[in-house]
Amino acid sequence: PGSVLSVADLSLDDVSSILKAASTLESEDPLKRMKHLFKRRVSLLFYESSTRTRTSFELAAKQLGADTVLVSALSSSIEKGESLKDTGITLRALGAECVILRHPSSGAPYMLSRATGLPVLNAGDGMHEHPSQALLDLRTILSRLRGTKTTPVSEITLKGVTITICGDIFHSRVARSNMLMLPRLGARVLLSGPQALLPEASASAGPGITIERDFDKALKQSQIVMMLRIQAERLAGLNVDLDEYKLRYQANSERITAHAPNALILHPGPMIRGLEITSEVADGPQSAIAEQVRHGVSVRMALLVRALTSKTSGQATKGKRK
Ligand code: CP
Repeated sequence: PGSVLSVADLSLDDVSSILKAASTLESEDPLKRMKHLFKRRVSLLFYESSTRTRTSFELAAKQLGADTVLVSALSSSIEKGESLKDTGITLRALGAECVILRHPSSGAPYMLSRATGLPVLNAGDGMHEHPSQALLDLRTILSRLRGTKTTPVSEITLKGVTITICGDIFHSRVARSNMLMLPRLGARVLLSGPQALLPEASASAGPGITIERDFDKALKQSQIVMMLRIQAERLAGLNVDLDEYKLRYQANSERITAHAPNALILHPGPMIRGLEITSEVADGPQSAIAEQVRHGVSVRMALLVRALTSKTSGQATKGKRK
């Protein structure tokens, strides 16, 4: 209980409760250190680089009164070959009650959760999932669509909303988590991008999801447009011409003005400006990118409170701490 390894772990009631908790926590005075997780111990275990996820989890934990410790692959005994399992067991022995894990291997959080018995929050695992990103994306979308920060539980629905996800869908854990979450809420999801970066067929993309390779056509139908980073490091051997990519899939002001002048533009970051998105769009009036980053802190606060206050969370250390 308390772990979030995939958005599939969360019922719609869970999603509602997390978003509601995020709104409540966000409304508390930011100048006051909260006591919800006073002196609880949270470990951030990062095998890959991160700016947004790591910082916002750390800020979230600190804001709630928890003590945090960051272990990153390059400055720890992981570099000497220590396994993920032994690293997790070591963190538990040092008093960790919850581990936030980013790892290049899909499924690594499941292994860590089994090995330690601690609540684990998946902060991005390989090409698998990035659940907290999908939750903060959802919070951003709902806030803008409803025009309110506090969305009542009963109104967490995206019926009638079309969302285009554009770019490197195939390698994207952000896309995968959103593809699992958004259709469950009633959204229609369109996937757009070059053939080499898309799932093979509409059928394999999942229910409620359609492939629309023509980005302009997808834009015309969409209220929300989620751009993804072109992961240059993963393109070797794939038939993707970056000049052609820009021509057909870049979110630039001409294209957005012509086909989606009212749509909300999202990007999980990091952005490659001038490739998948131009600065005019990223910094323009339709962009909610900075809002996504801000929502990351409150959503992660809610996930941490849930992880550390679920009935049997922190079981491995229960009784050892005063
Ligand atoms: N969106 C996201 O995961 O960004 P970081 O890699 O900076 O954490």
